[in-house]
Amino acid sequence: MGLIRPAEDTARPVSRLTWLNWAGLKGGETLFRRCEDNVCSSGAKGMTGAAAAAGGLMTSSPLVAWPRAAAGSRGGRCAARASAFHPDVSRAVESLQEEFREVDRALALNSARVSAAYRAAHVAPHHFGGSTGYGHDDGGGREALDSVFAQIVGAEAAIVRPQFFSGTHAIACALFALLRPGHELLAVAGPPYDTLEEVIGIRGSANVGSLKDFGVAYREVPQMVALIGMLLQMLSDQRLDAPSYNGLVMQNPNCMVMVDNCYGEFVETSEPPMVGADLIAGSLIKNPGGTVAPCGGYVAGKKDLVAAAAARLSAPGLGVEFGSTPGHVMRALFQGLFLAPQMVGEAVKGGMLIAEVMSVKGYRVQPLPRVPRHDIVQAVELGNRERLVAFCEVVQQTCPVGSFIKPTAGETPGYASEVIFADGTFIDGSTSELSCDGPLRDPYAVFCQGGTHWTQWALVLSDNPSNHKDK
Ligand SMILES: Cc1ncc(COP(=O)(O)O)c(C=O)c1O
Repeated sequence: MGLIRPAEDTARPVSRLTWLNWAGLKGGETLFRRCEDNVCSSGAKGMTGAAAAAGGLMTSSPLVAWPRAAAGSRGGRCAARASAFHPDVSRAVESLQEEFREVDRALALNSARVSAAYRAAHVAPHHFGGSTGYGHDDGGGREALDSVFAQIVGAEAAIVRPQFFSGTHAIACALFALLRPGHELLAVAGPPYDTLEEVIGIRGSANVGSLKDFGVAYREVPQMVALIGMLLQMLSDQRLDAPSYNGLVMQNPNCMVMVDNCYGEFVETSEPPMVGADLIAGSLIKNPGGTVAPCGGYVAGKKDLVAAAAARLSAPGLGVEFGSTPGHVMRALFQGLFLAPQMVGEAVKGGMLIAEVMSVKGYRVQPLPRVPRHDIVQAVELGNRERLVAFCEVVQQTCPVGSFIKPTAGETPGYASEVIFADGTFIDGSTSELSCDGPLRDPYAVFCQGGTHWTQWALVLSDNPSNHKDK
């Protein structure tokens, strides 16, 4: 779709690349909901006033305090059914059933789109074979995967490769492919993600090859956030036609729109290229890897721009016909992409549950419970270091891998502040699996994401003592 950047305009040598964070663009709500009445309204749950108060106030543990008297005092249906969850969590789950059904509806639409793309590309076992060296012996898997991905996100082309280290790397390849000295990068959806600051050159040393070092200017344009956020919101609902988008967003005819799509894939039923974005980039150990891709990232969008990003990943002249994928990685990339809508659906439900339970306990959450979501990340402001660390400890203890490891805050490349991570995952650092992280700075927000089933977050929120026998 040529919505944003019409044919070359040689009269305007300085072009602008408008860069959006899909998630930040469409989020934006920040409200504070305090617990006013956390006492059980249903007698069947048997929670005492004292226990309710302990759960409702900000106690030292940010998670739900398990009511000691609960088992004995439960009656009726609850007594007959064993539950792994704290009664508060069970209640939140019950209250979210309609929202969960809505997530399943989107999931089915996304799965249908994914299946259609696999059929169209005639994906077959010979695509899964490994390749070595230059990758010339690839059995067609690279091309098929690129084609499947492009069709799924509504792009002209895509490059999906294990050689992208991470989302930051894929985004950097895309930015460097598009921007030239004298160009300007505008962030119109709030500041970029932390790890992009050094890519842009707004943090870190000079002469490391940031965009700034190459003479690319950078500006954040907060006043555009609401306007463009609203426009794209409307576009994603397909209520604004392409010419309106063209006329309103394209103040400068050379403007290109790039979206940092990390964590946004498959949350809604449309992807940014379907509504006019020129280029998107993201990570395969997040949403589109479906929790099984072992590494990699992608860039998708207009054909010429994807080719430029591919040349940045490899080298000018080599393009996309290069790069080996040893072992079973190709199969995992295909399988993960196929599973991704389902995994994302579960992660979205987990986020809704976190928002519901933690807001009832009096914490600020972003996004709010029961509002439509645009990415899988759920933030909870825990207010102090102790609560942040305690929350991460419980997440780590609930993880299948390294549950015995105590997470500690530390310096991480790409981040300005100390960060604590809880990610006992099968794929190192995979945030499509149950995980959370938080910078050690005010307001001590924990960012939760992933999970192959929402019940994993229900267990974390229950802080069920049976999960922590060793404590
Ligand atoms: C919006 C956004 N963009 C980019 C990144 C960076 O991704 P990666 O850690 O894969 O480099 C993140 C990481 O959390 C993110 O949340």
